[in-house]
Amino acid sequence: MLKNKQNKKPTTLLCLVSTLVGFAFTIHLIMLYRRNYTVDNLEVSPELLPTHHPVVCELERVEEENIRMPPPRKRSPRAIKRKPKRPNTIVEEFLDENSQIRHLFFPDMKSSFGPSKDGGNDTMHQFFPGKIWLDTEGNPIQAHGGGILYDEMSKSYYWYGEYKDGVTYRSHKKGAARVDIIGVGCYSSKDLWTWKNEGVVLAAEETDETHDLHKSNVLERPKVIYNSATDKYVMWMHIDDANYTKASVGVAISDNPTGPFDYLYSKSPHGFDSRDMTIFKDDDNTAYLIYSSEENRVMHIGPLTEDYLNVKPVMKRIMVGQHREAPVVFKHQNVYYMITSGCTGWAPNEALAHAAESIMGPWETLGNPCVGGNKVFRSTTFFAQGTCVVALPGVHGGFIFMADRWNVADLRDSRYVWLPLIVGGPVDRPIEASFGFPMWSRVSVYWHRQWRLPSGGGKEIE
Ligand code: DGJ
Repeated sequence: MLKNKQNKKPTTLLCLVSTLVGFAFTIHLIMLYRRNYTVDNLEVSPELLPTHHPVVCELERVEEENIRMPPPRKRSPRAIKRKPKRPNTIVEEFLDENSQIRHLFFPDMKSSFGPSKDGGNDTMHQFFPGKIWLDTEGNPIQAHGGGILYDEMSKSYYWYGEYKDGVTYRSHKKGAARVDIIGVGCYSSKDLWTWKNEGVVLAAEETDETHDLHKSNVLERPKVIYNSATDKYVMWMHIDDANYTKASVGVAISDNPTGPFDYLYSKSPHGFDSRDMTIFKDDDNTAYLIYSSEENRVMHIGPLTEDYLNVKPVMKRIMVGQHREAPVVFKHQNVYYMITSGCTGWAPNEALAHAAESIMGPWETLGNPCVGGNKVFRSTTFFAQGTCVVALPGVHGGFIFMADRWNVADLRDSRYVWLPLIVGGPVDRPIEASFGFPMWSRVSVYWHRQWRLPSGGGKEIE
């Protein structure tokens, strides 16, 4: 009797647990269905294409790449002395300015694209990740580490980024490769493809060596948001010295999206060091600063004051001990998503996607969002590093992942890798912190050699 009773207990428990798991799984599937496939549901605007629409499926097509290592080169004793090791991985080839396969990562001007080129029509309005992108005047776009603002007033997009059209050098032997600050470049567009140069909207300081913007310092990752209460455009950026020891954020302000911006100050947010950073404006107009802190070990997040000119004395430490940088934040159906990179200087590394029900956390790590290319492409974020995510016009759950392919030998020639990002489908693994199914979907960034917006190239986006 006693034996029997003991045998029954685990079976009953097992039944109960499987019923609960089954129930939770069904709820999860229903939620995913509601999130991704219910287009005629009132929550989703009928003009938006759903993720299973053929045009969107084209963006989700998995495109393979095959890069072959070049045959070993004969090297002179002098070359061996100068650089004893020859590259033996694809990433080392990518970082080697004399690599025989450099053209695969940094194709030359002949393959550049943009509105000034007669692209034989079919190439018009297509994005070519990694190729030189020209503005309306035929010059390579200078907006690295950038961000995009959509301005309701002018119904235009503005792309702000580091204007790096100067010489790359190291201020000392062990220093990071750098270009003197020139300023923040701004480009405007109606269709996200045709970009007009609006000039340098925040310029370097040439003479005053004590100024944050003195050319010998560092200005990276500028991002602009609009404050409807003050009617001002507010720019936040990473401000540093050449050795990256100042580790601060800078703030500038303007009456117009095309500047000029007035530089206000730099500061250590919440009293902490701050390196790679971004800002995010939520639907309720609350804005947040997200920054790599504690020597890049921990990400910090906190709300800005109502005028967006400062941080409030509220901050949460997230991704503790994970060593992440290059944060980009976006939101879809009340879930916040973040994509971050690892910390390897200008060298590429693996991206990770994260999600949270509340922007202040807790944040869960979903995994590497990169799809397609090949293993090396995916483990290097397609040889690039994220900088911003902007909504993909016309696609429900569709975004553009904007990344920089840094050219460490010549930073001004760094390339833009813009790719479709789709939020949809089940995640790869359950949430880390607790038992249960996540209420968010998979984040996927699809590699394409070339692609165009589903809304059709060249159309003005309203
Ligand atoms: C990686 C960062 O994401 C870049 O913005 C830049 O700071 C480089 N490191 C410098 O090495």
